[in-house]
Amino acid sequence: MRAFVTRDLPAPALDRIRAVADVEVWPEPGPPPATALRERVRDADGLLCLLTDTIDEPLLACAPRLRVVSQMAVGIDNVDVAACARRGIVVGNTPGALTETTADLAFALLMAAARRLGEAERLLRAGGWGSWSPLFLAGLDIHHATLGIVGMGRIGFEMARRARGFDMRILYTSPRPCPEAERDLDARRVMLAELLRESDFVSLHCPLTPATRGLIGAGELAAMKPTAVLVNAARGAVVDQRALYEALRDRRIAAAGLDVYETEPLPLDDPLLSLENVVLAPHIGSASVATRTRMAMIAADNLVAGLRGEPLPYAVAAS
Ligand code: GLV
Repeated sequence: MRAFVTRDLPAPALDRIRAVADVEVWPEPGPPPATALRERVRDADGLLCLLTDTIDEPLLACAPRLRVVSQMAVGIDNVDVAACARRGIVVGNTPGALTETTADLAFALLMAAARRLGEAERLLRAGGWGSWSPLFLAGLDIHHATLGIVGMGRIGFEMARRARGFDMRILYTSPRPCPEAERDLDARRVMLAELLRESDFVSLHCPLTPATRGLIGAGELAAMKPTAVLVNAARGAVVDQRALYEALRDRRIAAAGLDVYETEPLPLDDPLLSLENVVLAPHIGSASVATRTRMAMIAADNLVAGLRGEPLPYAVAAS
């Protein structure tokens, strides 16, 4: 059997796959271009991919032997799961492994945006620190503020748990109620309009689907408090990025902390880069050594199971 892996992985993960298949690893630091990917999947029985690879119908049409797509991420919006299902290809992802690490980063963005840390560090390095003064770099309090969580799944729940440590009040929206969050974290499920109106911080933790694409647009941003902060460590396209830029520029909301963008990498001429009141991270939500290693091992296990025709430890259901 043959497997194609679209980026170098920790050695133990590759060894696990090599035990059952001939493995080709894309040797470059960036993703394989579409043409190279198409060529590599031609005789592959298994594909281990990242969120930077587009796994769609035209690609699958080039992969007649493919029986498993194993994505090293929890979000699978880059994979056409329905098209895979039509071809009898199973799809795996890595939920669970990255939940707390991603919530840590989301909370770090919340804190950095509230307390103006990016701006403060840039100012200090540029020699702009004159003296201690009453309102110098004064930001927003986190403790006892209201956090609105959009999407109370695994990561949303962990975000809420962190927030409770800061005595924050939790509101959330979710397709289904989360009794555990309501019981243990005193979270209250509300409609999006109420969440936007009431929250001091709005943090996005929903997957990118047709229903959530552009969920936070000009209207939603206008409904937020002028002192509110938006955090996005989910997927960039959940937010209308141009509308967000305009809201931040005009101070219609106070600040944002972002890890994800409509286009990644964020182009260097993107207007967001001209603003002081946004903290920008390069999609590193799950980027701790331990978590990325765990994700690679789970992705390898999914791939191996698929190659063997066994149920995947973490299979994605086609909706
Ligand atoms: C990262 O963004 C992931 O979906 O795992």
